[in-house]
Amino acid sequence: MLVFKLLHYIIDIISKIPLPDSIARVRGYIYLHFFYHDLVGYENLIKVCEKENIVKLPGDFIEIGSFVGGGTRKLANYAIRFRKRVYAIDIFEPLADFTTCEKGISMADIYTNILSSLGLTMFEAYWFNVSKYPNVITIPKNSACAHEIQRSFPEDQQFAFGFIDGNHSPEYVVNDFYLVWNHLVPGGIVAFHDYGYDLPKVTETIDKLIQKHRKDIEKIIINPVVHVIFIKKSGCKIS
Ligand SMILES: C[S@@+](CC[C@H](N)C(=O)[O-])C[C@H]1O[C@@H](n2cnc3c(N)ncnc32)[C@H](O)[C@@H]1O
Repeated sequence: MLVFKLLHYIIDIISKIPLPDSIARVRGYIYLHFFYHDLVGYENLIKVCEKENIVKLPGDFIEIGSFVGGGTRKLANYAIRFRKRVYAIDIFEPLADFTTCEKGISMADIYTNILSSLGLTMFEAYWFNVSKYPNVITIPKNSACAHEIQRSFPEDQQFAFGFIDGNHSPEYVVNDFYLVWNHLVPGGIVAFHDYGYDLPKVTETIDKLIQKHRKDIEKIIINPVVHVIFIKKSGCKIS
């Protein structure tokens, strides 16, 4: 643990050393490859997928909010073993979300800080992480353009698992939920990040969605450590 903390401390210092642009970019790619993961801990998502036998269901995976693709690549690596695709939706615009957490920090500030220490644009970092996975379909769009996004799905597109971590304002939480839910197979799971943490409006909106659809929900799993809620759709076909 101590070694791990020390390593992070050293990496943090190295990432702040001012360097010419091209060298800083190489440093960014090295950091991405060896040290950067994701903002959630996607291993926890995969654990629930395994426990709930999600890969036995028909349908692909979808992620809304990929950021630099550290989590996307983990999902892709898992999904490819079962011949499933991962649809990755992101606006790839660090200033798109000015929602503020309880500490008063905006999402835009968090994304901008990470990207400036990497010295890369969001899409450059994302593509570095994800381009080698042939099962990832990247949709670089605002998730609010739901009709446009749905047009890029095959007509009979179904999802077995969806993970939502996009824009944190309530209208987007609702929009993103339906983007997944309307294509989610019975027994499939839609999960949200930031449940029960420092974005109370996100939690409140998810609770309202659960209330509204409670008849179609088989079970709910909450991981309070990584602030993820998993909502499993019941076997009934009407939503
Ligand atoms: C918290 S980050 C995602 C982090 C990622 N899940 C991870 O753990 O690495 C949220 C992402 O949502 C994206 N985003 C914000 N507003 C969006 C919108 N309207 N449509 C699509 N993506 C959006 C941002 O660009 C950002 O990359």
